[in-house]
Amino acid sequence: MGIVQVVTLCTFLFGACAPAPSQLNWTHDIKPLIVEHCGECHGRGKLSVDLPNIPQLAGLMVQEVEAGRMPPWVPTRESREMVGRREFPAAALGTLKKWLQDPIIEGEEVAAVPRPKVDFGREPDAVLALAGDGYISSSARSDELRCFLLPQILGPTYIYGYEWIISRPSVAHHLVVGVLSAADVARAQALDDADPGMGWDCNAATLPFKGSLINTTVGPDSAYDYPEGAGVEVPVGGALVLEVHALPLALRTPAQFGVKLWLRADAHAVTALAFNVPSEVSCPGGVSSDPANRCSREWALAQAVDADARGNNDRILADCGQDLTSRFLGIAFDTSSPASWRVSSHCERKIVGSCSIFSIHPHLHVRAREVRIEACPAVGACELLYATDNWRWLWESSYTYATPLHVDATWTFRMFATWDNGMLAQPNAQTGESGHDGPALPPLALPSYHITDTARDAEMFSVTFECLPN
Ligand code: HEC
Repeated sequence: MGIVQVVTLCTFLFGACAPAPSQLNWTHDIKPLIVEHCGECHGRGKLSVDLPNIPQLAGLMVQEVEAGRMPPWVPTRESREMVGRREFPAAALGTLKKWLQDPIIEGEEVAAVPRPKVDFGREPDAVLALAGDGYISSSARSDELRCFLLPQILGPTYIYGYEWIISRPSVAHHLVVGVLSAADVARAQALDDADPGMGWDCNAATLPFKGSLINTTVGPDSAYDYPEGAGVEVPVGGALVLEVHALPLALRTPAQFGVKLWLRADAHAVTALAFNVPSEVSCPGGVSSDPANRCSREWALAQAVDADARGNNDRILADCGQDLTSRFLGIAFDTSSPASWRVSSHCERKIVGSCSIFSIHPHLHVRAREVRIEACPAVGACELLYATDNWRWLWESSYTYATPLHVDATWTFRMFATWDNGMLAQPNAQTGESGHDGPALPPLALPSYHITDTARDAEMFSVTFECLPN
């Protein structure tokens, strides 16, 4: 706070705070550091860490960096070493603090520093986007999942790099691209033909993707380069489906979505191993058996948009050797609702076959708080693949390991999470908005039972590993 005051007073009230010539300046000393370490996420809007915003943000910037919250690095330091670790070096923090102690000096403008970005070294081989000006939503819902069959590329080929196309980043929550086999292209085409609008209402889980481009969070992961010699296979006659998790209210004018692809004729095919973990989240007071009560499973299923919710959910429980009775139904129901209340879920699974894991993408929703994912050999110590005690849905990303981990069918994966279903974790009672950008605004709804499902606001815990043949 002190820093904010000093900066503000000097800059705006006492223009006489004349800089000494040797002092650090924004353009030469500070901006490159901010662009390199913060720029990928803080380019625009009220959190733009650009000079006009610095007097307001300065104190908070230092505080967030010193607290280890910014740049956000979800996995704990103990997790297996990853590439592109987001860290603000101690020397950079020293420079930032020193610059902030003195009156702010802008310095002369130099050429813009580009944001960090994957450099594929050449133009893309294919640019696949929606027809015309793109998609306009007419959905009355507050969000929707829409699928689009992209123009076909000639297989067999391997995608070794990609970059998302999104004309207005604020209109979508995330994008996914899945690769379909020739047979499934016909099924997707039929779904598209049956829906009068552009694309069709979908859920990626209903189409059996042979492979997918999984760095799906729009924001930090705008592009991805697979490890040397690896690629996602597009078979003969295959095609790509783009799934957009769209925000309809922002899509009353068209937006363009798609993907740029870098292709090679031959590669080691990347496989994606996906695991789901039961993430039924009961209420602080236990589980009601009254279908009209928000703390009953019946109520939660009645809210689900996906007709298969019950089946999906029970299958996930069974895959992890669990059932509802053993998880929740024995708990006596009462009506207490503390501000914060933790419940955990876990799953242990063997993998089929053998491969080398080079990346991990945990996906959990807003109630998730802690995550821990381990891979354990039959004999010996487990590898901590990913852990955080501070899950932030907004920071979700795929992470690439510095060295791949060889696993085979003797290995077991252990996945664990805790969730907060207390009063303060609830969505706004009127809009249903669950506070994706921070806590939801009051008045908050009463706690409700949450299930693994595709329904809005339902909880989700899935982990996708990308693997290469051993
Ligand atoms: C990977 C994306 C990403 C990077 C890199 C990043 N931030 Fe952030 N930052 C966010 C997001 C998302 C939020 C808002 C939500 C949150 O608090 O997590 C945020 C919030 C903030 C806030 C506001 C915190 C508050 O309590 O309101 C500050 C200040 C901030 N970031 C500073 C920085 C600085 C300084 C850097 C570079 C050293 C940086 N960030 C790098 C994503 C990022």
